[in-house]
Amino acid sequence: MAPGPRLLVVSNRAPVEVVRSADGVRVVRTVGGLAGALNDVLRQRGGLWIAWVGLHAGEELPPGTAGLSYPIRAVRLKEREVNNYYAGFANQVLWPLCHMFPSRCAFQAAYWDAYRVANERFAAAVQAAAEPGDLVWVHDFHLCLVPGLLRAAGLPARVGVFWHIPFPPPSVFGILRWRAELLGGLLGADLIGFQTEQDAGNFVESVRQFLELPVADHPQRVVLPEREVHIIALPIGIDYQSFRAQAEDPAVRDKAARLRVALGAEKVMLGVDRLDYTKGILERLRGYERFLERQPEWRRRVCLVQITVPSRDRVPQYREMKRSIDETVGRIAGRFSFEGRTPLQYMYTSLPREALAAHYVAADVALVTPLRDGMNLVAKEYVACRGGQDGVLLLSEFAGAAQELREAVLVNPYDAEGIRRGLETCVFMPAEERRRRMRVLDDRVARRPIGWWTAEFIERLTAGGGTAATAA
Ligand code: F6P
Repeated sequence: MAPGPRLLVVSNRAPVEVVRSADGVRVVRTVGGLAGALNDVLRQRGGLWIAWVGLHAGEELPPGTAGLSYPIRAVRLKEREVNNYYAGFANQVLWPLCHMFPSRCAFQAAYWDAYRVANERFAAAVQAAAEPGDLVWVHDFHLCLVPGLLRAAGLPARVGVFWHIPFPPPSVFGILRWRAELLGGLLGADLIGFQTEQDAGNFVESVRQFLELPVADHPQRVVLPEREVHIIALPIGIDYQSFRAQAEDPAVRDKAARLRVALGAEKVMLGVDRLDYTKGILERLRGYERFLERQPEWRRRVCLVQITVPSRDRVPQYREMKRSIDETVGRIAGRFSFEGRTPLQYMYTSLPREALAAHYVAADVALVTPLRDGMNLVAKEYVACRGGQDGVLLLSEFAGAAQELREAVLVNPYDAEGIRRGLETCVFMPAEERRRRMRVLDDRVARRPIGWWTAEFIERLTAGGGTAATAA
């Protein structure tokens, strides 16, 4: 990519976290493809990342911190503000609403107040750092009001937003009493990106219904009196090459082989998720339980490894979900373990990248069955680690990834019988068909890696909008 205007990335979470332990305050790198991809762009163009880095961060983390090539400007928030803005409005209002769980929303005015204040804090940090001609790239649902605040302040920079999670239809988004403020805030941007055409369409329809603004197609846009806001669907990718290389690394392959021996199963199945009710972990476990009930001869031949990554434990619903999963895991292991062998291995931990890749390499089947998901990168990571060879992906039709990965075995994640049937399809699929499907999936994932996504968004933001990318 040719260097162009400087880039200011704005997100709630930073690519590093400042943590305090007995030995003092340390900066640790958070794992994620986005940080890697933006590292290169920020090095080439110059710029910085503005984010919340934790309660113990100073104002600025200079380049070189935790190996990053750019500085991070830390937005300071007190613990109570984080609880109300992040754990409250972001995670207990917008998150459940956008994933179509309105009954899980806690519509509290205090959460909204904190969300507004936090967004003002982020916008002020951008204003303090921005220079004329910069590109400002705001990420996700935590920061809906930032583009509007920047526009109102007359910031002389182009502003783009990428919405990483689903955008619900107006019938669900409209439940929110702050819907007009949030939509108006987002429309402060010049370009808004979504994961799928459906998300982009839902957003445009909400703008039309709730703000009564004219919208237009080809390219999709909202027509304001003084300017237009372009809306695109741009499915996020993964760092394909690095997953592929890791999966081919002899040390990783060796680890995978040892894992298979330890599991002692003819078919290894794998689930990897953050602990979140949207991920459908309980529903998946129930589907697997049905499979074991209906297929007694497979009880000794199959093993599901479920890796659940701790997440958002400030939120009570996440703690409750952990208890329900623990119970369900106990019930299944209790029912079907026999002579020292269990068909279900459960881990509640975050694995380092190499160990994760070894699990992908070891797995004959990956179970990716969220009840709703913006994209789901586990599906793409699994495919990358198979290298177009073999393996089956069981995928929820309600994950954004299902728009691109049509050759997966698609299931309705709410339907335990459907998951059971899907698992049977995976287990009994002939080798030739597995390879044929995996080759197509691999090609799809390889063609649109994270670098493609980043370059495409920045190019469109620089150019002032443009046409939408559709699923390949
Ligand atoms: O999917 C949206 C997202 O914000 C991701 O960007 C992130 O990995 C995930 O949710 C976890 O979010 P949190 O920052 O709350 O841990």
